[in-house]
Amino acid sequence: MSIHERLLIIDFGSQVTQLIARRLRELSVYCEIHPYNRVDDAFLDSFAPKAIIFSGGPDSVTRAGSPRPPARAFSLGVPILGICYGQQVMMQELGGLVESGDGTAEFGRALVSPAGAPLPLLEDWFAAGPEQVWMSHGDHVSRIAPGFEVYGTSPGAPFAITADVARNFFAVQFHPEVHHTPRGAKLYENFVRLAGFTGDWSMASYREEAIAKIRAQVGDKQVICGLSGGVDSSVAAVLIHEAIGDQLTCVFVDHGLLRLNEADEVVSMFRDTYNIPLIHADEADLFLGELEGVSDPETKRKIIGRLFIEVFQKYASEIEGAEFLAQGTLYPDVIESVSFSGGPSVTIKSHHNVGGLPEKMGLKLVEPLRELFKDEVRALGRELGLPERFIGRHPFPGPGLAIRCPGEITRDKLDILRKADAVYIDQIRKHGLYDEIWQAFAAILPMRTVGVMGDGRTYDYALALRAVTSVDGMTADYFPFSHDFLGETATRIINEVRGINRVFYDCTSKPPGTIELE
Ligand code: XMP
Repeated sequence: MSIHERLLIIDFGSQVTQLIARRLRELSVYCEIHPYNRVDDAFLDSFAPKAIIFSGGPDSVTRAGSPRPPARAFSLGVPILGICYGQQVMMQELGGLVESGDGTAEFGRALVSPAGAPLPLLEDWFAAGPEQVWMSHGDHVSRIAPGFEVYGTSPGAPFAITADVARNFFAVQFHPEVHHTPRGAKLYENFVRLAGFTGDWSMASYREEAIAKIRAQVGDKQVICGLSGGVDSSVAAVLIHEAIGDQLTCVFVDHGLLRLNEADEVVSMFRDTYNIPLIHADEADLFLGELEGVSDPETKRKIIGRLFIEVFQKYASEIEGAEFLAQGTLYPDVIESVSFSGGPSVTIKSHHNVGGLPEKMGLKLVEPLRELFKDEVRALGRELGLPERFIGRHPFPGPGLAIRCPGEITRDKLDILRKADAVYIDQIRKHGLYDEIWQAFAAILPMRTVGVMGDGRTYDYALALRAVTSVDGMTADYFPFSHDFLGETATRIINEVRGINRVFYDCTSKPPGTIELE
């Protein structure tokens, strides 16, 4: 099996470290992020990086006990790029000086101008004069380390770009990975080129290696996969099936809270198209029975989470000899972030997941997507031939329509909601807007309103439409549909769906709202 050229990102806790990984993956370079306190000499030797990047971070190198890279990083003989805190820690460790204060803090946009001789890192940079960059630093380098020269300056950072050309050490005060450094990607491109990367990371090679890894891990044992119909678990299932065929059984827990025709689509796709052994656990009665009369959002989530685990366990225990549980865990879920605050964060919503299930059932985990970002999972799905319509689907939450039906859940309301949601999504597709939107759905409101249709009075449910743009679901903006679109959609829903006589559009961003209503 080929081993990729590997780049190591040592994380000092910046909010944007993951973006460095993104930029590198876009250059077909394989990289991993590891927190500074987990990177020791033994780790460095086993990882064998071809180059290292020190990320930014919130601490101050002037504070005793602040994060440091292992000294060995500097003696491996590989190129290093330090960013922001990474630059400062590099200077400090190699004999320079970093200071706080005296009014040189810079936050936001700044212009960096060239200085000194041409530098391979800056090839095709500065071609059109000073470059816009994004700064975010309180401390600054006040004396560069021996061997370093200055190659770029900004009003607040006389040492904005420095390098020790002999050792291939580069240090920049700004963040080339963020959007507000418009030509930052070029710096990463130059860095990996000068470090000798050939760009050997591709989805085709990932697929091949992942299959070999799954075979080696699983041997001739049985694997169970909880299939939700979402992109991650589906791609994981198809990949694992390609690796081990009928040693994989998927369990699809149908809680009766899915969208129109969704269960049929999932079952037919996996059973008929892919021939994957699939258990369709049709447990709608159980879930809807236990949810009867429950209107508190957290109680709903807890009930669904508990039942999901119970049901999954029940079906999984019927699969003889199962030793592994497959999960579609992604890279952002895996990266251990460096917590400087250490404080507990507030639970806004208890998210539905199967955490704790493997221990409970004594199963080992198979997680073939652990190294991928969401869009890379989509690319892998395409590589595996999954239909585009399926790969590009908006996220759908584990608790399903339960959290799109504020108040008590009834079968009647769910039926109305399914139909209305289908019309709404159909409208979005027809207008060519589906791929511009992160997530769109309808929610049935716990209220009835008076209307008039024909000559008669109606007293029916009100529906809320939601559509948001987002990059990661953490923050979101409502989608600016045209009035024509909204008017046409409301008319269609009211005409086509019995039980709805009023439609609202939700203009709340996140924060202060959340994406789902509950
Ligand atoms: P919120 O409503 O918290 O949603 O702004 C952010 C994203 O997460 C999805 N979501 C969930 N996904 N299990 C999931 O798998 C859950 O319990 C859950 N709750 C919310 C939501 O659809 C959005 O994409």
